[in-house]
Amino acid sequence: MAFPTNSRDKSSLGTRSGSGSMTLGTSVTPGGLRAAVNDPLKKILNHPSSAPLQEREFAFTDADFERIRNLLYKNAGIVLSPSKQDMVYSRLARRLRTCGDQTFSQYLRRLEQDRSEWETFINSLTTNLTSFFREAHHFEILASQIKQIKEKRPIRIWCCASSTGEEPYSLAITACDTFSSLTPPVEIVASDIDTSVLAQAEKGIYRRDKLDRVQPTHLSRYFTSASGVDDSYAVRAELRRLINFRRINLLSPAWPVQGPFDAIFCRNVMIYFDKPTQYGVLKRFVPLLRQEGRIYAGHSESFMHAADLLRSIGRTVYVRLDSPLR
Ligand SMILES: C[S@@+](CC[C@H](N)C(=O)[O-])C[C@H]1O[C@@H](n2cnc3c(N)ncnc32)[C@H](O)[C@@H]1O
Repeated sequence: MAFPTNSRDKSSLGTRSGSGSMTLGTSVTPGGLRAAVNDPLKKILNHPSSAPLQEREFAFTDADFERIRNLLYKNAGIVLSPSKQDMVYSRLARRLRTCGDQTFSQYLRRLEQDRSEWETFINSLTTNLTSFFREAHHFEILASQIKQIKEKRPIRIWCCASSTGEEPYSLAITACDTFSSLTPPVEIVASDIDTSVLAQAEKGIYRRDKLDRVQPTHLSRYFTSASGVDDSYAVRAELRRLINFRRINLLSPAWPVQGPFDAIFCRNVMIYFDKPTQYGVLKRFVPLLRQEGRIYAGHSESFMHAADLLRSIGRTVYVRLDSPLR
């Protein structure tokens, strides 16, 4: 059963192509981005429907948009569709107002000079849609994977695009259910590039409507009503203790994580990357994965282009080529 997504949708960053990546142009290298911006379709796609150019509070040129697309691609791997000019404007306009900048080019100069602005820039442009038990079949597969592990050792899971925390807490609930314990031998690393969603995740407080699809037994067992926050629930401290939250940019040359992992949940983030970026990330996952470990991908993500690294075992679950699993 696929639960609806319901968390912090800052609206989609791209248009999903048939290949599973979120692009609009044919090429997504920085040069490709440039070509896409020069596409004749651009004028139609970029036509601001909600905020006509002349009514905009801040000057925002095609060249500014192009620079932002390139910066996001180079620093976060995110391919921004040319049709997202309005979205970029509205997300960053708030920031310009706060910083007191008059134009986007002024803001971009600030970005060049002030490294501390980078964090807010990236946070503003990520899409963090998620929900508890999203693509629920993966949690059932994980439960059976956990049951098959007979050695007495911690079971280690990396949730590498954890957004506001619903996914790693769903993993923790699955682990607790499987071991019938609030202290299962499970360690979860939950990471994301976006520091503001990580901060929300660490708090572990969710409005009631975010928990609509959490089973009542899970709600009573793993949540308490959040004191001082209306109509909200807090994740139990035991669940939080299973999770280590940290900022990791999947594009960074060094990841502060150590393998081996039994499972890597990398769901609904690769769709924002092009194939070469996806391949580079997957290549680095392989040595971090146990021989019998699994990589869980989002339902619209396919890693078939990395067939020299991973083998599909169905339902968007992948294993190493030397895995004994079929
Ligand atoms: C759509 S959410 C998916 C959340 C969750 N995995 C799920 O499937 O429900 C994508 C997340 O990927 C994160 N992300 C985007 N680029 C990233 C990068 N380069 N490194 C790490 N996380 C990134 C975003 O901040 C966002 O929280």
